[in-house]
Amino acid sequence: MTEAVKRPMIRRPMAAPWRDYAADVILRDGTSVHLRAIRPDDRAELARGFAELSPEAVYFRFFRAKRRLTDDELTAFTELDFTQRAALVATLRVGGEERIIAVARYAVTDDSRRPPHRAEVAFTVGDVIQGRGLGTLLLEHLAIIARANGIAEFEAEVLGENNRMLRVFANSGFRVKRSLADGVFHVTLPTAETEEHAAATERRERFAAARSLRAILQPRSVALVGASRRPDTIGGTLLRNLRRAGFTGAIHPVNPNTDT
Ligand SMILES: CC(C)(COP(=O)(O)OP(=O)(O)OC[C@H]1O[C@@H](n2cnc3c(N)ncnc32)[C@H](O)[C@@H]1OP(=O)(O)O)[C@@H](O)C(=O)NCCC(=O)NCCS
Repeated sequence: MTEAVKRPMIRRPMAAPWRDYAADVILRDGTSVHLRAIRPDDRAELARGFAELSPEAVYFRFFRAKRRLTDDELTAFTELDFTQRAALVATLRVGGEERIIAVARYAVTDDSRRPPHRAEVAFTVGDVIQGRGLGTLLLEHLAIIARANGIAEFEAEVLGENNRMLRVFANSGFRVKRSLADGVFHVTLPTAETEEHAAATERRERFAAARSLRAILQPRSVALVGASRRPDTIGGTLLRNLRRAGFTGAIHPVNPNTDT
């Protein structure tokens, strides 16, 4: 057996395994989104996503107006060691292309050589997808990586009017502390899992899973492939039963041989 195969068996930590981090999550409206570790080849997508942000989102994230990410910023944001600095992106497939719709990152801020460490966190969720639970999910997953890297506390600077970010922290189930100075909240939260955090995560997951089934259990319209006017066929019976059961949504019979 080769050395490479033996390693996991003796549980020696691999170098920065978090570079391969990936998870599929469900937003509170039932949309499925992919989360993964950021990669150096995400530069172009990151720059495109930034260019589409509203001025308010940019201001909340960077505390100033900003038109584009510089080359140096793109390097600093995508080339990470995944211990001291890590970032996750949320992606969707649009027309076969992977699109980045959100980013969450941490960077260690203390200079102690050994853990426990403290890290600053920052989040950016594309305007059109905000308020659907993605920021909360990114915080949850970033905390998993941080804990494994000996980061005991997250901290963030949040503008006083950034209610959404403050709500993400407050509803996370982590034990959040905050103090206000000059219109900016300094927020700290231990990354340790708590019962409240586990319960909040479970509640959110249950709600999102139920929402994801709504299209099937409570459809607004039904496409019936193989629908037929002939009563003795399965398609015909389904069509009749849908109407008899009082379904009020649109029914789209898909059958080139029927004019139903
Ligand atoms: C802040 C941000 C990351 C949050 O991400 P998100 O995906 O929108 O957040 P979520 O959907 O997970 O949660 C938002 C929470 O705020 C609530 N909320 C939504 N709009 C709100 C508003 N206008 N006022 C108060 N609360 C609001 C939501 O109901 C939700 O709370 P809930 O869990 O009790 O329902 C995202 O909005 C963003 O990128 N904003 C611009 C950049 C930014 O502010 N970055 C933070 C810098 S640290």
